[in-house]
Amino acid sequence: MVRIIMHGCNGHMGQVISGLVENDPDAEIVAGIDVSDQGKNNYPVFTDMKACQVEADAIIDFSSAKAVDALLDYSAERGIPVVVCTTGLSEEQLAKVEETAKKVAVLKSANMSLGINTLLKLVQDAAKVLAAAGFDMEIVERHHRLKVDAPSGTALALADSLNEAMDSRYHYVYDRSQRREKRDDKEIGISAVRGGTIVGEHEVIFAGPDEVIEFKHTAHSKAVFGKGAVEAAKFLAGKPAGRYDMSDVING
Ligand SMILES: NC(=O)c1ccc[n+]([C@@H]2O[C@H](COP(=O)([O-])OP(=O)(O)OC[C@H]3O[C@@H](n4cnc5c(N)ncnc54)[C@H](O)[C@@H]3O)[C@@H](O)[C@H]2O)c1
Repeated sequence: MVRIIMHGCNGHMGQVISGLVENDPDAEIVAGIDVSDQGKNNYPVFTDMKACQVEADAIIDFSSAKAVDALLDYSAERGIPVVVCTTGLSEEQLAKVEETAKKVAVLKSANMSLGINTLLKLVQDAAKVLAAAGFDMEIVERHHRLKVDAPSGTALALADSLNEAMDSRYHYVYDRSQRREKRDDKEIGISAVRGGTIVGEHEVIFAGPDEVIEFKHTAHSKAVFGKGAVEAAKFLAGKPAGRYDMSDVING
């Protein structure tokens, strides 16, 4: 039985995970942490993280970028592996993730779904053939109207995958409104659409002369991220310090 501390337990994802774990015989939420508590959970909730000294095997985090520094310190101090799912981290915070991973197991992924993590690999194979043959690469992502960061962490992860496949020779372009020139051969354009209740859509477009190939992932519900996060917590429990990602979980 994997004992989980849910950081951001009262948010959308915190509640999705609470529901999933309730029906999972191999996992249990032993405590939640959030800025306030309305008493809606069947586990103790702490509004002061330091006061939470409950024994646990892993922490799952779906909170806010502002909350991640203190969480990483907490995880290292208590020696509890942490699954960081919050997006929109700054460069300094990404560096802190790497530092923390020297002391405790840290798994960070901008997207916890099996589908996106498979797509990250597929587009690398496609890029090696198509970008090398002169196809342009563009990413379009769509999310609900409440999302605060843009482009999505997943769109950036897809761009990083494409770039890595091409020996990091590409740069990213987010906005073409301020220039009057044709696209560069080595750019990856990333466009963000925000509206309604779209859970998350990512398209990777390879546009060549007279032909286009598109890869598209659609998340129909937030459960796909929750399931991945719970699997990641089970995987990470008991693991030595180090930096892990979803490919480690998928490959066992
Ligand atoms: N990696 C993924 O697959 C994935 C999927 C969905 C969402 N996300 C990201 O996860 C994050 C949370 O998403 P959400 O939809 O659940 O958001 P949400 O706003 O519904 O929930 C966030 C929760 O965190 C709490 N919180 C904020 N600051 C806190 C602090 N200092 N300490 C403790 N709790 C704090 C809030 O009170 C809220 O209950 C966002 O960054 C989102 O982009 C990632």
